[in-house]
Amino acid sequence: MIMSIILAAGEGTRMKSKTPKVVHRICGKPLISYIIEASQNTGSDKNIIIVGKNKGKIIEIIEDNSYKSVKLIEQPIGEEVPYGTGYAVMQAQNEINDEDTVMILNGDTPLIKDNTLKQFLSYHKQEKNDVTILTAEIDNPTGYGRIIRCDDKHTVAAIVEEKDANVDQKKIKEINSGIYCFKGNYLKKALNNLSNDNAQNEYYLTDAIKIFKKIGCKIGAYNINDNTEIMGVNTRVQLAEVESVMRKRINEEIMLSGVTIVDPMSTYIDNDVRIGRDTIVYPGVSIQGNTVIGEECIIGNNCRIVDSKIGDNVKVQISTIVESEINDNTTIGPYAYLRPKSKVGSNVKIGDFVEIKNASIGDFSKASHLAYIGDAEVGERVNIGCGVVFVNYDGKNKYKSIVKDDAFVGSNCNLVAPVIIEEKAFLAAGSTITDDVEAYALSIARARQVNKSGWVKAKKK
Ligand code: UD1
Ligand code: CA
Repeated sequence: MIMSIILAAGEGTRMKSKTPKVVHRICGKPLISYIIEASQNTGSDKNIIIVGKNKGKIIEIIEDNSYKSVKLIEQPIGEEVPYGTGYAVMQAQNEINDEDTVMILNGDTPLIKDNTLKQFLSYHKQEKNDVTILTAEIDNPTGYGRIIRCDDKHTVAAIVEEKDANVDQKKIKEINSGIYCFKGNYLKKALNNLSNDNAQNEYYLTDAIKIFKKIGCKIGAYNINDNTEIMGVNTRVQLAEVESVMRKRINEEIMLSGVTIVDPMSTYIDNDVRIGRDTIVYPGVSIQGNTVIGEECIIGNNCRIVDSKIGDNVKVQISTIVESEINDNTTIGPYAYLRPKSKVGSNVKIGDFVEIKNASIGDFSKASHLAYIGDAEVGERVNIGCGVVFVNYDGKNKYKSIVKDDAFVGSNCNLVAPVIIEEKAFLAAGSTITDDVEAYALSIARARQVNKSGWVKAKKK
């Protein structure tokens, strides 16, 4: 059986954060999620996560994503208890069977690809190793454990941590990624023999290699092609570096699927976003969460779209769209703000400075400029004039307005909710509508204009 153990109990002190390290996000997704998914996609039958004080937050992530076949084991964290990656793995000792292949993963290395892990696993099997370490040659190895090779250069003698390394060892550029495949029986044996006699007084998992060497096990190393895959997150500087690698990957995948991204460097697309062919995304755009965008859309400069569903051939200019739905052939913006639960139909025009919240707008309707449409149901082919306000709040409660098909709401009307405007009704500009309006009626709700001839001249005298 292949099982994986994901180490995620560390305190992440170098992040200087109230949020546990592996819960920090890159491209919209928590670090730990990337590793859980990679582990599952590799075909691991059992995925164990070693958690610490972050247990509650990790449970939330597992539930939110409905991850299956994961098991949490809590590592006690505190001043009186030991610490270290070796100690973390010890917590899962009872789960390991002698014949198991145990893959160890770190919760803080989200860039590792499923394919790489698969190749790594098959190398481990092919070579009949008792342990294989995933290693990389990097120009600046500072902070990583160094791989000490045997004289034959093929096998590995030990891993030395940065803080325990001497001057010569620090020059070694081959580093430990923190990812390993162990044979179950030897791993258990090594765990029982770890000590914390080192610069950090921690139980290092890396010391297992020395022990394997002593008992004559076969130790191999698998050198990764793409070094970026093993980049770890220990600080917020690394968090940003890792995010930029992930962002580049996401953008490239989307472009190769037929989407134009005018400037990938300034386009921020989250991991789970989907975009249809021939859509063009202009610079400065953020597309976040579970957003789905259709084909042949134009997402203009500086839009922010979060958890929304957008149809085909939709044009959006410099607007913010949150938890909303927009149907085909509709245009949005510039400067529109669609707040949660906005449902905009097809062939609709939502123009500049229009705010919509918890409202549906039927097909072919228009709100071309300066309006607030909150808590409303607007039918098809409705015209919402400039400056219209859906007055939905009396200071205590919110109320709903209904404007039916083909109604005309003149400029600068206030619709004081709750109110119903029936089909084809016509509201005169500047009206404050407090009562329902029947179908085909004209409603004028404003003081009649009075012109006083000569009034200005008379006043001057
Ligand atoms: C570790 C390796 C180092 C390797 C590097 C790769 C050791 C001793 N060192 O160093 O050789 O180059 O990863 O990124 O293994 N954790 C626990 N419980 C603990 C301590 C840590 O679960 O008591 C978890 C952390 O949450 C983290 C992972 O183990 O996900 C690695 O711990 P970290 O402190 O980041 O190790 P590094 O110093 O990066
Ligand atoms: Ca680390």
